[in-house]
Amino acid sequence: MRAQGYIVAIDGPAGAGKSTIAKGVAQALGIARVDTGAIYRTLTLLALERGLDEEPKVVALLDELDLRFRGEQVFLGDRDVSLAIRTPKVTAAVSRISAMPGVRNGLLELQRRLGRADPQGALLEGRDIGTVVFPDAEVKIFLTASAEERARRRLKDLEAAGERTTHAEVLAAIVARDAYDSSRPVAPLVRAFDAITVDSTGKTLDEVIGEICGIVRARLAG
Ligand code: DC
Repeated sequence: MRAQGYIVAIDGPAGAGKSTIAKGVAQALGIARVDTGAIYRTLTLLALERGLDEEPKVVALLDELDLRFRGEQVFLGDRDVSLAIRTPKVTAAVSRISAMPGVRNGLLELQRRLGRADPQGALLEGRDIGTVVFPDAEVKIFLTASAEERARRRLKDLEAAGERTTHAEVLAAIVARDAYDSSRPVAPLVRAFDAITVDSTGKTLDEVIGEICGIVRARLAG
């Protein structure tokens, strides 16, 4: 494996198991992981708390986005917002906020800085890492799974977090969010032409993590 830092981009729709898989892959490779969805979620939380909805006002909030990752925790200033950014309210609002061109532009530099912070390299997970944020990433993975399977997994997570909902409700939300995320004019969820698709349907976490690590190692060796 090359000594120079490298970037692994993992993009894909909601609920494909991205976060858990990204965590496992980054750990196995010994590189940092940046959850870019958490960045959009934290900004959304701040906007909701301030009651701000219009793009210029939300963009102005970026100056206050004092965001830090500490392991798996996300801090806004001194406040641990790891749980607050995962509530259904934030999840419902984040698509709209993340579709604002000014927001996406404003967050580009932050994502690139976080990705380049570790000389070893980093794994970034999101929707447009391989297409927009790091189009020159050494390895690009497009991680997907059937909508049914993604809904099953999301439901389990929500139930574990004490939320009351149903499979049908979660499936409908996933389908709606996919459609919105893939059709928005700014940075839609599309597979980078040079990304390798990994379908996690019916596979265990370890299988998918192993598959991606194999792809990364093969790419870096070649
Ligand atoms: O992966 P997630 O569910 O935490 O992402 C939250 C939202 O942020 C999702 O609606 C898509 C958006 N997002 C994005 O537009 N670009 C990214 N790089 C990451 C997330």
